[in-house]
Amino acid sequence: MLMRVDSIEGLESCMAGTKAFRKSNGRPFITVSYAQSVDGSIATRNRQPIGLSGPESMLLTHEIRACSDAILIGIGTLLADDPRLSVRLVDGNSPQPVVLDTHLRTPLNAKLVQRPDTRPWLINAAGEHSRQFLALQRAGSMPILCDTDRDGKIDLHALMQVLAARKINSVMVEGGAQVITSFVNAGLVDQFVVTISPRFVGGLSVLNSNGIHFDANLELTDVSYRSMGDDLIIWARPK
Ligand SMILES: NC(=O)c1ccc[n+]([C@@H]2O[C@H](COP(=O)([O-])OP(=O)(O)OC[C@H]3O[C@@H](n4cnc5c(N)ncnc54)[C@H](OP(=O)(O)O)[C@@H]3O)[C@@H](O)[C@H]2O)c1
Repeated sequence: MLMRVDSIEGLESCMAGTKAFRKSNGRPFITVSYAQSVDGSIATRNRQPIGLSGPESMLLTHEIRACSDAILIGIGTLLADDPRLSVRLVDGNSPQPVVLDTHLRTPLNAKLVQRPDTRPWLINAAGEHSRQFLALQRAGSMPILCDTDRDGKIDLHALMQVLAARKINSVMVEGGAQVITSFVNAGLVDQFVVTISPRFVGGLSVLNSNGIHFDANLELTDVSYRSMGDDLIIWARPK
């Protein structure tokens, strides 16, 4: 299904079609969205977060969050950024937070765990009997068991079925590098929304070059561009 979106105004109607998408594909519609420098960095070399998005493109990020049923990050991002992943800059509901956390390394005092309005889903393979499982449950999160792949990471195809069974129609994947690389490798991207900030960072590359499995370049199609403040937004989908 083509879900081309090239304006904020079009976003809501785009996301409105995601229930039908889930029903026919057996998984949610997946938007991968991140901000990078012109040299393709999403953070500093030692994974310190940098405010890459300007105020206008940050609004767009919150618009996409508000139109998504779930927002997904890796434990690397949670540990580096301690994000809340809520919708604050626009009207709308905050999406269900989902963290890929195989070994349940999420700290009990993480802002996401402490949010009073939601119980983040911590996707893990640690098992119900691990001490951290119960502690995180009591602290306000919901650990959810999932199969792992041959690398011992969360199996993304299995996870998408878990999310679909929980009536999640759309997922916004916000990073970081390893998670984006895994979604690209798994062929689980329906739409990219990339913010390009006019600066060089020389930091953490968006695609983990050791981890790329696809042989050829991943070509994008239905590409549209839009400037927002000083940033350039690219909307596209994989060919
Ligand atoms: N500019 C942006 O838009 C943006 C957005 C988000 C993050 N970031 C930056 O990205 C950096 C973090 O990125 P990162 O690459 O270090 O970590 P990450 O991608 O956030 O998380 C990676 C971790 O997730 C877990 N995981 C479980 N299943 C996985 C799977 N199937 N595929 C990939 N990971 C899986 C693994 O840990 P376990 O094995 O322990 O489960 C893995 O080490 C931070 O510096 C953050 O600031 C930037």
